[in-house]
Amino acid sequence: MLRRLHPDQPESFAFTPANQAWAEGQITKYPEGRQASAIIPLLWRAQEQEGWLTRPAIEHIASMLGMAYIRALEVATFYFMFQLQPVGSVAHIQICGTTSCMICGAENLIEVCKEKIAPRAHMLSPDGKFSWEEVECLGACANAPMAQIGKDYYEDLTAESFAQLLDDMAAGKVPTPGPQNGRFAAEPLGGVTTLTDFTGEAQNGSVALAMQIGDTLKRIDGTEVPLITPLVAKAKKPAKPKPVDSATAKKNEPKPSASKPVDATGVSKQAATAKPKAKPEAVAKGADVTEAQPELLKAARGTSDDLKKIKGVGPKLEGVLNELGVWHYWQIAGWSGAEISWVDARLKFKGRIERDGWIEQAKILAEGGETEFSKRR
Ligand code: FES
Repeated sequence: MLRRLHPDQPESFAFTPANQAWAEGQITKYPEGRQASAIIPLLWRAQEQEGWLTRPAIEHIASMLGMAYIRALEVATFYFMFQLQPVGSVAHIQICGTTSCMICGAENLIEVCKEKIAPRAHMLSPDGKFSWEEVECLGACANAPMAQIGKDYYEDLTAESFAQLLDDMAAGKVPTPGPQNGRFAAEPLGGVTTLTDFTGEAQNGSVALAMQIGDTLKRIDGTEVPLITPLVAKAKKPAKPKPVDSATAKKNEPKPSASKPVDATGVSKQAATAKPKAKPEAVAKGADVTEAQPELLKAARGTSDDLKKIKGVGPKLEGVLNELGVWHYWQIAGWSGAEISWVDARLKFKGRIERDGWIEQAKILAEGGETEFSKRR
């Protein structure tokens, strides 16, 4: 199967602020110079947010990781888990068609998909709500036949129960995942023969957690933290000084710099004339003192956006933003608190971005909408 980018692509991509913070946190897991290792989690989160992987998303993530676009595209096109075409707005159904499921009726489920959704895999249903595909074994063979929808498994399906699931989802319900025939988990169909005195929960752990998160049909926007996104970016705390004895303290005393003379204040000439070191980048949201450089571009991607459509941005400020490397609404829409601080400091208009609501305006404009202000221009 050829895996290519879909011919119809959106103009732009931006992570939601919470997903952006999550993505920045993921990147911190890898040592300096190895940020590209975060490519799969970031692509996956983009897909969880949008439903499928768009070209702007792939490029956005490549830029975040300092990778050439082609390298990110290679990853996205290699793995079948990445959807390169639009999927159903309600659900993308993945039917397992491997041996156990096939023997137990997967072909009947596929017939339901063809009848209720679309005649071919990866086609959208006429109302755009559903799409489907056949996948390889999903490791729930004891509960065959089964389907994966989002993160959740729907097991022990029949054509009838599966058709009902689709109807329920189309009606806006979030069905309970797990076995659909009354089984608790993967115990024998005829009932348990051991541990018969087990009086557990009403639902197995996976189902209970899925219901708690309620994310089966939900596009992930990052607000599900901490249930499914345990890692978020943290500004590095300075290490606690270890107690030392006086001999060690003496040994550890800083040696005078080679760039003598040291003045009366103890500052070397070199240190006195050196430029102040840039603040360490941090991504902690909302911290006034932390700054993080947002994604900047050497030039506009295609046609630059008219940033003057954002209230508070005049021609002069637009020029400054362009010089910094800000050309598009989607760039502004994705700024985190630390990134706003970084830009604020360079615009010399502290607080203006938040006061004028640039982020909210940019989000609307990035999606092709208009704000009260932009309509007047
Ligand atoms: S064969 Fe379907 S889950 Fe393994």
